[in-house]
Amino acid sequence: MTCIKKKRKKSLNFKNESKISDGLDPDKIPTHVGIIMDGNGRWAKKRKLNRINGHNRGAETVRTVVRSAREMGISFLTLYAFSTENWERPKTEVMALMKLLKRFLVEEQNELLENNIRLNAIGQTHRLPKDVTQVLDYALELTAKNSGMVLTLALSYGGRSEIAMAAAKIAEDAVRHKIELGEITPELLSKYLYTHGMPDPDLVIRTSGEMRISNFLLWQIAYSEIYFTHTLWPDLDKAEFHAIIKDYQLRQRRFGKIPSE
Ligand code: IPE
Ligand code: IPE
Ligand code: MG
Repeated sequence: MTCIKKKRKKSLNFKNESKISDGLDPDKIPTHVGIIMDGNGRWAKKRKLNRINGHNRGAETVRTVVRSAREMGISFLTLYAFSTENWERPKTEVMALMKLLKRFLVEEQNELLENNIRLNAIGQTHRLPKDVTQVLDYALELTAKNSGMVLTLALSYGGRSEIAMAAAKIAEDAVRHKIELGEITPELLSKYLYTHGMPDPDLVIRTSGEMRISNFLLWQIAYSEIYFTHTLWPDLDKAEFHAIIKDYQLRQRRFGKIPSE
């Protein structure tokens, strides 16, 4: 009885705050959602626009999704914004993406503060242009004490190099006798990744219809639920994001075990 009462109270609270709707179960909100934001170029091409216009429009979707994730009570949102392989794109596109990233970091600072969002970055961020790392470091520091949601941007990120980096650090610590060979377990390796201290993603979403992972959080997504949508990133809206979370809530996660009746 007490249990039912408690549950009812919680959902009423959500209703009052009109934070989430669409029949979402507030008790089954994924803790960590990762998103492979793909399809900006094709969105622009369809409209006979420059690819950069697609990236600009994609930045709007980032704003929508961050806000919506925060409203839903998602604790960790990780956005794949630029891969290690994306450096191979034409210089003009890379430069435009860097400029856009810088603008985003400057423009979003207030929104992050107002919504108690802590910014985090993973990847080879030292490869970013200096003016970008400067605003990034500033935003990281500015939001460091926020406790509402962790927004992680994967920038110059690659899963394979992350794992290789972890292996190299483990080898170094083993040589220095900081760790014993017998201590090298999956749990230990996780601690050497950029994502240490974060739970693994419960759900990974990829837009644009491509059904691949493209080097995103390779280690961490071992048991993540995956959702592919044909929607191009700039076209993803709050309603579809909610529908994806709703789909996730209907899934049964087994982690290799037999489900309890
Ligand atoms: C995703 O959109 C953004 C980045 C990878 C930086 P794309 O630029 O990959 O768009 P498509 O896949 O060419 O449509
Ligand atoms: C994945 O998209 C990387 C990001 C979304 C940042 P890509 O467009 O780079 O991936 P591929 O080339 O289709 O695999
Ligand atoms: Mg792409």
